[in-house]
Amino acid sequence: MEWKSLAGALALSFLLFGTAPNPAVGNDAHRQHVRAARKVGILLVGFGTSEASAQVSFDTLLRKTAAAYPGIDVRWAYTSHIIRAKLADQGKRLDSPAVALARMLDERFTHVAVQSLHTISGAEYHELQRTVSGFNAMGAFERIVLGDPLLATQADMQRTVSALIDVLPRERKPDEAVVLMGHGTHHPANAFYAALMFQLQREDPNIFVATVEGYPDIELVKSLLLEKQIKKVFLMPLMSVAGEHAKNDMAGDEAHSWKTVLTRAGIQCLPVMKGMAEYDGLADIWVGHIGPMMAQFGLAR
Ligand code: CO
Repeated sequence: MEWKSLAGALALSFLLFGTAPNPAVGNDAHRQHVRAARKVGILLVGFGTSEASAQVSFDTLLRKTAAAYPGIDVRWAYTSHIIRAKLADQGKRLDSPAVALARMLDERFTHVAVQSLHTISGAEYHELQRTVSGFNAMGAFERIVLGDPLLATQADMQRTVSALIDVLPRERKPDEAVVLMGHGTHHPANAFYAALMFQLQREDPNIFVATVEGYPDIELVKSLLLEKQIKKVFLMPLMSVAGEHAKNDMAGDEAHSWKTVLTRAGIQCLPVMKGMAEYDGLADIWVGHIGPMMAQFGLAR
């Protein structure tokens, strides 16, 4: 897979610039030149969203990143082909990570910090890592590094638990539950969701985490809610944006939606349509992961 990405990046470079990078020729001269003209950039990478209301999450991240690193160019890329195609139909052009990086290469950036806006280091994060490795292997930039998703270390888990506890709906009574909707994945990193639930429940036993595509699923969490005779739950997306999954799978009226599944089990549902990145405490964790990359570039926050 690594070679596939590398080949893709090389082919892309050839297509965009009409020349393949040759690491053997002119490297010293090139390095001297870039040392003189250092150009640092940040690339924020999310799955993307076509929901206009979800844009507020991305605006928060952009505002916080720009405030933390004034004078540094901040760019966006969306990993989802489907979302980018949808947006293109509306006249909005969003780059994939590979195209955004090729563009930054063309604009003579020397140091690029790629920040993942994923929740866990699952399949999509690793795909992004392959793209970054490809550009790294090309020797295209002097430095290119990738920042952690929301949940990567135990420190992230603890910060996320407290940030989540801080933003739970104020009107909620102690015998009412909160069910967070994670995306879920076949990737082994899916285990983060159950681990997060364990740690959240140490603080508040009525917070649950379920996923759309992984473990635990909503059927399992439904049985836990019924066991505890919970009558009312607040549904919240555990994703950077409140996009399609939140709108349809969580709060939609279709038979499979979590709202429908739980309502049919006699549990009242109150969806909260806010992406995690809309909350300062959570957005700060993602943006905080840019810091160690900047430190690698010799730039203190
Ligand atoms: Co999905």
